[in-house]
Amino acid sequence: MAESSSPAAQTLALTSQPSVPGMDPHHQDDCPENGLGRGNGETNGPPAKRSRPTPPLSPITAAEIAEEFSHHDLSVARINNGSFGSCPGSVLSAQAVWQRLFLRQPDAFYFNHLQPGLLRSRAIVKDLINATDIDEVSLVDNATTAAAIVLQHVSWAFSEGVFHKGDAVVMLHYAYGAVKKSIHAYVARAGGHVIEVPLPFPVSSNEEIIREFRKALDLGKANGRRVRLAVIDHVTSMPSVVIPVKELTKICRQEGVDQVFVDAAHAIGNVEVDVQDIDADFYTSNLHKWFFCPPSVAFLHSKKCSSSAPCLHHPVVSQEYGKGLPLESAWIGTRDYSSQLVVPSVIDFVNRFDGGILGIRTRNHDKVVEMGMMLAQAWGTFLGSPPEMCCSMIMVALPGSLGVSSEKDALKLRSLLREEYRVEVPIHYHRPKDIEAGRQNGHSGVTGYVRISYQVYNTVDDYYRLRDAVHKLVNDGFNCGMLPSK
Ligand SMILES: Cc1ncc(COP(=O)(O)O)c(C=O)c1O
Repeated sequence: MAESSSPAAQTLALTSQPSVPGMDPHHQDDCPENGLGRGNGETNGPPAKRSRPTPPLSPITAAEIAEEFSHHDLSVARINNGSFGSCPGSVLSAQAVWQRLFLRQPDAFYFNHLQPGLLRSRAIVKDLINATDIDEVSLVDNATTAAAIVLQHVSWAFSEGVFHKGDAVVMLHYAYGAVKKSIHAYVARAGGHVIEVPLPFPVSSNEEIIREFRKALDLGKANGRRVRLAVIDHVTSMPSVVIPVKELTKICRQEGVDQVFVDAAHAIGNVEVDVQDIDADFYTSNLHKWFFCPPSVAFLHSKKCSSSAPCLHHPVVSQEYGKGLPLESAWIGTRDYSSQLVVPSVIDFVNRFDGGILGIRTRNHDKVVEMGMMLAQAWGTFLGSPPEMCCSMIMVALPGSLGVSSEKDALKLRSLLREEYRVEVPIHYHRPKDIEAGRQNGHSGVTGYVRISYQVYNTVDDYYRLRDAVHKLVNDGFNCGMLPSK
C-alpha cells in the first residue's frame, strides 16, 4: 500500500462538537427560503477551525476502543468492515445531538445551522483529500449516488450530441455491481459502447493491471471510436485489490480519454487520497466505510464548473438547481442530514489514535496482511494479491475442497459461517472462466476466497474463529454441494 505523506488527513485537529452556541447564524439575502448562500465559504457559515498536529496526550486504550464499539453484536466475529463500515459510539452520540437540534426547532436548524455545519464537514474533507477549493467538494449520500451524478452527466453528453453513438466507455470487469448497472442504465442506453477491462486475479503486480487497461483502451479506440469515459476503481470491492489509479488516469490523459471517474468507495481512511495527485475528473469515496461516519455519507470531488469543466447536477432536483453541485447536494429536500454533519466529530475520534487516520490505516493494513498470511498458512492456500496491492482488506484463498462452484455457493457458505460459526465475512466465487481470462499463477482449482477486513475494533480472535471454522468444515468433509438449495 502506498503510504506517502498525505496532507492534513492524519494530522488535522478540529474542534467539532455540534455545539449550538458556537454556531454563527447566517441568513442569506439571496435565498431567504432556505438559508443557503452562494457557496463561497463566506456566506455559508464559519470555516472549520484548524490547528497544528497534536499527537494525543494519552492515546485511546483497547478498553476505550471496545467501549466505542460496544453497540456491535459481540457474539459475531465481524471481519467485514468493507461492506458497511462502522461508527463509534461517540460519533453516534454527536449524530443524535444534530438530530435533536433539528427536531427541537426545525426552522432555526434549517436557517441557521444546517449549511454552516455542512460547510465545516466539506472544509475537513477538502483538507483530507488535498483538494484546491472547497467548492470542488460535494457531500452526497453514498458512492452509488455519486456514480449516478457522474453518469447522468455522461448520458446527457450522448443525448445532446457532444458524444456520439458508439463512443466507448471503459470500466473494470470487477467494477462494483451497482456502478456497472448504472453505466448500462445511463450510458449504454444513451448510445455508449461499454468495454470491460478483464483484471487478472490472483494478481501479483500493477503492471498486469496496466497491461490489460491499455489493451481495453486500444479496443475502445478501434475503428476511429473515441473513449469518452473511463471508470476506474481505487479499491475494487470483490475481489479486493488496490488499483494503480494514478497511473491509469495518466494513461487515460495520454490516450485522449475525455473523462475519468474514480469510484473510490473504499478509499478514505483506507488508502491515501490526494485528488490533485490522482488528477481524475471525478473522484468519490464513502465516508461511512473506512472513515467512521454513520451511514450514509460520501464526498464527490469534481473541478469547479467552468468552460473546461462540466457542471454536474444532482439527480434529485431541488430549488438549488443550477447553483453548483455542492449547494445542489446540500439541500435535496427534507431529510436527515446528520450523517453529513458529524465529520468534525469523526476527526475528534481519529485524533485519539496514535498518528490519527494515517496511523489507523497503516496499522489496519499491517494487521490485515498478518491475519491473511496466518489464514493462508493455516489452510495451505495463498493471498489474492501481494501486501502492497491491498489496503485494510485482503483476499485469502479457501481450501479447494470446500467446492465453491457458484455465486450461490459463495452466499450459502457465507450464511453458514454467519449462522453456525458467528463469523461475518464475504466470499468471492472466482469463476474458472475468469481464471482463464486472468492468469493461472499455479493456483488452479481454487474458486473461493474470503475477503477479510481489519478495523480498529478487531482482535486476533476474530480471525482465529474464521480459521477454526474453515478447519472444522474441511475436517468434517464438508463441501458446498451439501448445502440445501434454497
Ligand atoms: C467499489 C464500490 N463502489 C461503490 C459501492 C457502493 O457504495 P454505497 O453502497 O455506499 O453506495 C461499493 C460498496 O461496497 C463499492 O465497494
